Amino acid sequence: MLSRRRLLTTGLSAAALCAVGYSMWPRLDAYNEQVARQRRLMEADPERADLIRMSTLAANSHNTQPWTFQLEDRRVIIRPDLTRRTAVVDPEDHHLYISLGCAAENLSIAARTHGWQPALSVVRGAETAISIDLDSTGAKASYLYQAIPLRQSTRSDYDGRAVPTQDLNTLAAAAAQEGVSVRFVTDPSDMDAIADLVVAGNGVQMDNPAFIQELRDWIRFTPDQAIATGDGLFSACSGNPVVPEWMAARLFDLFFQKESENDKYRRHIRSSAGIAVFTADQQDAAHWINVGRSFQRFALQSTALGIRNAHINQPIEVPELRRDFAGWLGDATIRPDLIVRFGYAPALPMSLRRPVADVVI
Ligand SMILES: Cc1cc2nc3c(=O)[nH]c(=O)nc-3n(C[C@H](O)[C@H](O)[C@H](O)COP(=O)(O)O)c2cc1C
Repeated sequence: MLSRRRLLTTGLSAAALCAVGYSMWPRLDAYNEQVARQRRLMEADPERADLIRMSTLAANSHNTQPWTFQLEDRRVIIRPDLTRRTAVVDPEDHHLYISLGCAAENLSIAARTHGWQPALSVVRGAETAISIDLDSTGAKASYLYQAIPLRQSTRSDYDGRAVPTQDLNTLAAAAAQEGVSVRFVTDPSDMDAIADLVVAGNGVQMDNPAFIQELRDWIRFTPDQAIATGDGLFSACSGNPVVPEWMAARLFDLFFQKESENDKYRRHIRSSAGIAVFTADQQDAAHWINVGRSFQRFALQSTALGIRNAHINQPIEVPELRRDFAGWLGDATIRPDLIVRFGYAPALPMSLRRPVADVVI
């Protein structure tokens, strides 16, 4: 139970937050205008550089946008930007290469819609890259393309409704990718078992000061901060209050507690319709890129069907829990790559991206 003092502090903080949040509305307008500029479909006869804008709207870990793009005559090369690694949560660059796969998939879908046939190959070297050849062909409209600017990670309570079997089949078909398997978990007791692992993983991560510091480094507490960097996790996109920077550090410590985060994750999972688990056949950058491609299509197809999704990857980010989770899935030798809940909920604010000029080399 909350102590009286804690209740009072929380009550006062909430009142202060309302006042401060109200004073930040003009900034939020500027933020929303920037979102609208970035999240529009392409013009009828687009510049190829606009494909890069669509590509960068992909999901990516911590919104670090760990990529650069090289634009050649009929080719785009996507390379990792290793200055944007998240070494604590992602020491092997596993999430980083999945993020590149997400970006490659967005680019391919946008290209097809605008009359370019993409041919994607993985270029292995000191740094694995993705090369996408673009040959002119007829334009093909697609629901997935329309969903690119609308897709988001929705980290909120969902409404508990089940996803119809027909839509689950559509999601499975969209996610189909050679070398990647996708399993849907919809049984409530199985979802509770995954929630136990998420909570255990969250506990390990929140006890690690380096993990907390890395996460904090990528949080953008104010609209101004989010606009200035064009990257990172803006508080409002996770359903959190928007406060000035001077207040943010204190509130982060006050509200970002293991117990309340664990409760939140259990609530999030219980309110979801199901959980999708993505697993590659092999563990290397090329296969992680394929996981990203599969996940991005899953997320776009979900969006087109009005279904939200959010990552709950803690059990795969903590190595000892990853083994337990693989055992729970029935094969302790595999390494599951992504865990994503899905269901129905209103949209949260959209996240920003860096300008195209900053990612083209
Ligand atoms: C490989 C990968 C791992 C991710 N892990 C998490 C996660 O553990 N928790 C979370 O809330 N979001 C996670 N995300 C979602 C990103 O934070 C999100 O895509 C990014 O902030 C951009 O926001 P958007 O998806 O709304 O465009 C992950 C995304 C990817 C591609």
